[in-house]
Formats: sequence, C-alpha cells, structure tokens
Amino acid sequence: MDRLQHPLFARAFARAVGALDRRGAAEHRSRVLAGLHGSVIEIGAGTGSSFPLYPPAVTHVLALEPDDYLRGVAEENAATASVPVTVVDAAAEHIPAGTGSADAVVASLVLCSVRNQAEALAEIRRVLKPGGTLAYYEHVRSNRPLLARAEDLLTPVWGRFMGGCHLNRDTLGAITAAGFIVEGNVRFNFAVGRLNPPLAHILGTATSPGPVPQARTDPA
Ligand SMILES: C[S@@+](CC[C@H](N)C(=O)[O-])C[C@H]1O[C@@H](n2cnc3c(N)ncnc32)[C@H](O)[C@@H]1O
Repeated sequence: MDRLQHPLFARAFARAVGALDRRGAAEHRSRVLAGLHGSVIEIGAGTGSSFPLYPPAVTHVLALEPDDYLRGVAEENAATASVPVTVVDAAAEHIPAGTGSADAVVASLVLCSVRNQAEALAEIRRVLKPGGTLAYYEHVRSNRPLLARAEDLLTPVWGRFMGGCHLNRDTLGAITAAGFIVEGNVRFNFAVGRLNPPLAHILGTATSPGPVPQARTDPA
C-alpha cells in the first residue's frame, strides 16, 4: 500500500480538531451518524472524533486510518468510544473487509483527501451490502464560479500543506457517478476556523445498489 503519511499536517489537525468540533463539526458528525446500525466501516477516521458519537444500534466500527500519528491517537480514543471500535492501517482505496460485509460506510472530511475518489467509492460499494448506506459529511467545490476558480488555483498549494486535501472536488457528483442513490443531502456553508472563509459542505446518506459488476472474461 502507498504510505499516506503527512506528519506535520497530522499533528496540526490533531491539535485543531477539538476547536473544529466545538464550532459545529461535532453536531454535523452526530447528524451523519444518527440512524446507522450494525457493522460500520469509517474511512480516514483521523483522531477518532466520531467514535463517541456512534448510536448504540451500531454493533462494531472498523476504523481505517493510514497516517501513523493519527492512527495512534485514534487507537487511544477507541478505548472511550460509545461502541466497539477496531482501528486499522488502511486506505479507502483498499478496504480490508469482505464484499457485501458492511451495513454502512462513514466518510467524514476525507473524500477531499483520498488520492482517487472513483476507486475509493467503487471500493465502498464493494464492501457495502446491497442497500447499505454511505453516510458522508464533506466540504466541496463552491457553486459560485469565481470562488470555484479560486479553489482550483489554491488546491495544489493547499493540498501540499493539508494532507492532500482538495478544495475543489464535486464529491456529490462523484458519489452519484459511482452509482449510489442519494437519499438525503443538505448543502450549507461552514467555516472550519475563526479566520477561515466559509466553505460549501454536504451532509447526507446514499444507498449502494451493490458491488460494481466485474467485467466477464469469457474463456477463448
Ligand atoms: C481532514 S482529516 C479528517 C479526519 C476525520 N475523518 C474527521 O472527520 O475528523 C482527513 C483524513 O483522511 C485520511 N486519509 C487521507 N487519504 C486517505 C485515504 N486514501 N484513505 C483513507 N484515509 C485517508 C487522513 O489520514 C486524515 O485522517
């Protein structure tokens, strides 16, 4: 697997995430997790900020975190989670879980950073049971053309310092293009820090129709 290590970003993010949560992200996380049940996979769990917020109907969370520093913090936080959590070293593009094994996958502020959204979303479809839920909370490309252009220009530099984050991804479009059926989506502006301009965010759930069918290779 690619080594997805961002030591400086990881330490800065771990220090900042508490303030982000107090600004409103914790409430957004709770909204995205409400209603989940059964076996859940969380991709890019970071420090595990969502761990105390899982509802009791969730029986187990497999939390993927490729960054060594953040995974260490997440492992500590798993001990005080509201439900059983196992933290593993893995990326969203290669989820260590069986086909059709999960009731839900949670993506919180991570589809902006995965290297390949289409691969990650196909992998999420693979691990979800048919009818399973992708629960997402993500910042996305602005609908305002000038702002979107500014996000395009800023992203190469921003990503270098912010763990590969893209400011300009149309994540809802990618979720739809990957074959998910969006069930409920809200779009809103949210400033991640006191001095940051508001960014467009989306929050909602989408249903998987089942794994992407594999191309058949007929014997010659
Ligand atoms: C902005 S942080 C968000 C962390 C957490 N989900 C949250 O909401 O607080 C982005 C996270 O995505 C992780 N990440 C980056 N690329 C990834 C990938 N390909 N697969 C899984 N996680 C990834 C990073 O290590 C980091 O933990």
